[in-house]
Amino acid sequence: MRLDEWVKLEQLDLDSVETVVDEKVEDKVTSLKMTRHQKRKIDETHVEVGHEELDAASLHEHEEFTKVKNIATIELGRYEIETWYFSPFPPEYNDSLKLYFCEFCLNFMKRKEQLQRHMRKCDLKHPPGDEIYRSGTLSMFEVDGKKNKVYGRNLCYLAKLFLDHKTLYYDVDLFLFYVLCECDDRGCHMVGYFSKEKHSEESYNLACILTLPPYQRKGYGKFLIAFSYELSKKEGKVGTPERPLSDLGLLSYRGYWTRVLLDILKKHKGNISIKELSDMTAIKAEDILTTLQSLELIQYRKGQHVICADPKVLDRHLKAAGRGGLEVDVSKLIWTPYKEQS
Ligand code: ACO
Ligand code: ZN
Repeated sequence: MRLDEWVKLEQLDLDSVETVVDEKVEDKVTSLKMTRHQKRKIDETHVEVGHEELDAASLHEHEEFTKVKNIATIELGRYEIETWYFSPFPPEYNDSLKLYFCEFCLNFMKRKEQLQRHMRKCDLKHPPGDEIYRSGTLSMFEVDGKKNKVYGRNLCYLAKLFLDHKTLYYDVDLFLFYVLCECDDRGCHMVGYFSKEKHSEESYNLACILTLPPYQRKGYGKFLIAFSYELSKKEGKVGTPERPLSDLGLLSYRGYWTRVLLDILKKHKGNISIKELSDMTAIKAEDILTTLQSLELIQYRKGQHVICADPKVLDRHLKAAGRGGLEVDVSKLIWTPYKEQS
């Protein structure tokens, strides 16, 4: 789905079209017509509503409409980025294939000249909020969605372009955003972020995570994941990411969990329980169990789960788990949990 795109008529090879119209093709034609019809209807009714307000039929229409990518590319800082998915920008932006973002306040515009004018007067040089971590050129900012509603909403519009989640968050008040930046003399440039509910009944310590495509596969994702667990440790809680995880999300988490758990098992002498592992890492017991089970390191003996940790097997799994990602230097984290601030 990430590769979906609209093509122009010239790009279609009509010579190779078969003239026999079978049922399947007819189905497709009908569904195309439906989509256009639905699109117009949805345009009229707005997509900016929470799903709970839609009845089943409208929800289906909404899903059909949001299947199709609306914005093809964005400009953000020094990057032009191809988008992956639909994002519910306000209707007046839906006729533009490209959007121009201010990389600091994340306001978006339809024309380059508007952005240039904006950049002359925008005085932000980093995300609005508190810098809670700095190590070398890396900084993390904590942005309270309630205090910075516009920024929070802009970040959600931007993130949705790369997230295939079905639910859309508009109630940014309930979230804290942790924005990772690479800083230089021009300012702090957003690399990625994760959001976190201020209060989670399901012990979620992360709602959405994103590394912007130009920065992906360089270890920032695992940094963000590690950071979310460091916050949980400071809160004295265990945490887990909100479900469902995307394919890339699952790969990153599996890699992170495997590395953290096997590093401990390798060093540890004597018995260790899943509860102890959970206390040490802030990783929820269920996630520890599924990770170790998927590596076939768990056996069920006499009504109990037993971890089998042959050093050679551990090394083999560690090698397969990929790179460690950028390290979080906990001594550089200055943060108090949300509850304590209010
Ligand atoms: N192909 C194969 N494996 C990949 C790829 C890819 N394109 N991207 C990441 N991985 C796997 C690898 O195992 C990688 O480790 P390795 O490079 O050591 O082999 C691991 O995931 C993580 O790599 P990082 O460089 O640390 O992570 P990255 O900065 O690329 O960020 C993230 C990972 C955040 C999931 C990113 O891919 C992303 O933003 N994706 C789009 C949004 C998304 O799907 N977010 C998760 C949704 S679920 C949720 O929010 C709860
Ligand atoms: Zn700005």
